[in-house]
Amino acid sequence: MNSPAPSASATRLPPLFGLIGNTPLVALPFRAEGVTIHAKAEFMNPSGSIKDRLAAYVLLDARARGLLRPDSIILECTSGNTGIALAMVGTALGHQVRILMSDTASVERRHLMRHFGAELQLFKADRGYLTGIEMSEAMAAADPRIFLTCQFANPLNAQDHAENTGPEILRQLPGPIDAFVSGYGTGGTLNGTSRALRAAHPGLRVVAMEPAEAAMLSGESPCCHSIEGVAGGYMPPLLQGVNIDWPEKVSSPDALAMTRRLAREFGLLVGTSSGANLVAALRTAHKLPPGARIVTVLCDRAERYYSTKLFSESSMGVPSGIPPDDRLK
Ligand SMILES: Cc1ncc(COP(=O)(O)O)c(C=O)c1O
Repeated sequence: MNSPAPSASATRLPPLFGLIGNTPLVALPFRAEGVTIHAKAEFMNPSGSIKDRLAAYVLLDARARGLLRPDSIILECTSGNTGIALAMVGTALGHQVRILMSDTASVERRHLMRHFGAELQLFKADRGYLTGIEMSEAMAAADPRIFLTCQFANPLNAQDHAENTGPEILRQLPGPIDAFVSGYGTGGTLNGTSRALRAAHPGLRVVAMEPAEAAMLSGESPCCHSIEGVAGGYMPPLLQGVNIDWPEKVSSPDALAMTRRLAREFGLLVGTSSGANLVAALRTAHKLPPGARIVTVLCDRAERYYSTKLFSESSMGVPSGIPPDDRLK
């Protein structure tokens, strides 16, 4: 792990921590479009998503500052990946972990959290993340053992990406970087990574991928979509103040088709937000001069989506012989 929180002693940490962060940056040549996109392979983190970084950074910071006691209960409201990461890291540090998640999050995520030993409580998804955030605040007010990681408002979430994810990309891709494209759930990835990349490349374009069905940055109302992990019906505080050049709307069918294309053309077993990010990155490439160097994120692994549309037979129809770019229409 290259992301120790302030004054965390790496020597006494479980070996798991050595597996978090420092993910590869892979160059994906999209031949049909004549464009290469550079993608940060966050699905290679040990619990399978970018959220391992947040869990390790926030919990090690809390431990270093004496905020975690042996009887502390780690509590978070999450669409799933943060819950899986906190369950893995929190229990490895010897703590009880309680996760509040929307009843629309995939069943595989619930299994993974329980497998790591976390306790789950589901809430109705009709108000987006707000219900879960209010529940977690009420629980914390009633029980002094509760430690809230507060992924939506915690500045450490973005700080970790500014100190680690961004600098990793700068080391992995020397020379100019023209655009960074990412979806937002908490906004931590967009906020911190773009801050680090822009400090090195002041002309960097920052593009926020958002589901076409929940395009809040584009001024539209949030509705149901199939890109789990992003645009949860709530504008996260961490996104405020981020200098976004433009939002790129991606529909759920386009995101699903690209996620399957990533598996079939590149052998990448990733989730739907990764596909959505690549759709947005390719569109960004067409808006910038030829040869522009664009970085995006492969956020998580596909195996937590077996029960979702991504794998359902009715939506598997990507006929062979059709040029890949046509599959997106
Ligand atoms: C699959 C997936 N993609 C993207 C994101 C967005 O990351 P962030 O919360 O840093 O905005 C998340 C966050 O939960 C996620 O789970």
